Amino acid sequence: MADQLTRDEAQDLVLVEHPARRHGPDGAPLEPPEWLAGVALVTLNRPRALNALSFALLLRLAEAVEALDADPSCGAIVITGAGTRAFAAGADVAELATQTAESLAASPGFRGWDRVAAVATPTIAAVRGYALGGGVELALACDMLVAADDATFGQPEINLGIIPGAGGTQRLARVIGKARAMELVLTGRRVSAAEADRLGFVTRVVPARETLGAALDLAAAVAAQPAEAVRAAVAAVRAAFESPLADGIRVERDLFRALFGTPDQAEGMRAFVERREPRWRAPGAIAIPPDGAS
Ligand code: CAA
Repeated sequence: MADQLTRDEAQDLVLVEHPARRHGPDGAPLEPPEWLAGVALVTLNRPRALNALSFALLLRLAEAVEALDADPSCGAIVITGAGTRAFAAGADVAELATQTAESLAASPGFRGWDRVAAVATPTIAAVRGYALGGGVELALACDMLVAADDATFGQPEINLGIIPGAGGTQRLARVIGKARAMELVLTGRRVSAAEADRLGFVTRVVPARETLGAALDLAAAVAAQPAEAVRAAVAAVRAAFESPLADGIRVERDLFRALFGTPDQAEGMRAFVERREPRWRAPGAIAIPPDGAS
């Protein structure tokens, strides 16, 4: 059965900390703890299997991220892998090996990547070590990607007689271009963090131990911004990625207009005129529909 819970059943496959703790440059949470308002940390937790994405893990990940998305006190979500060796080394190959075309089509777990990509809350992948196959596809499904200088990215599916099946051929090609994506997908060649930076699919590269802290600090900076404008910006930039230009421009214009009349728009502009810092509303009560239609 496609999404049967196996020996993973007893484990906490996905850990959630909300609010998350601020981390120091040594990679550990600060003591005494400092809580990052509006920031959630979601950890893929199968370190002995390099956080391979089993169907059970994918289901729990999707449920966790959707629950955070529905929580008005959550303004940004960081997704990372437990341990230092991997963000995720891909879909669980042992489990994949038993699948058929029909079982994959029927698998709720296999839709995990799409469910993560669909949340309205901005998401940030914090990647140490391997992000391969479904792992890099999960990182690319996030809105931003903070990479450790020891991170390694790749789409090795061709070596298994398959192709990327969770957005890899599409998202990578859109970000780094057809010819470069084609090479990586056809050869399975791995790229370093430095090359990924040059290719333009990471937000920034940081020293390995600082990765999670940097991602959490970035999330805190985003979560401190006016919530409705953040969600509108996320939807608009995603539209640039997903739609033809004319449609994206329409989405942007609708979202831009929809923000006028919101309390934070009034406050932001009043604060500018009065030469003071704006006081944003607490996150929540998002009135604008995700596609900006008014
Ligand atoms: N699925 C299941 N288990 C995995 C795994 C994966 N994708 N990647 C690693 N593991 C497990 C290994 O089986 C091993 O478990 P045991 O200790 O129980 O034997 C453990 O993690 C450690 O892995 P290695 O011993 O292989 O560690 P290594 O340092 O020698 O190699 C690696 C690391 C290069 C990442 C190697 O593990 C590897 O190549 N993994 C597979 C990568 C891959 O092919 N990913 C694509 C999967 S298909 C996919 O993702 C499809 C899609 O588009 C959705």
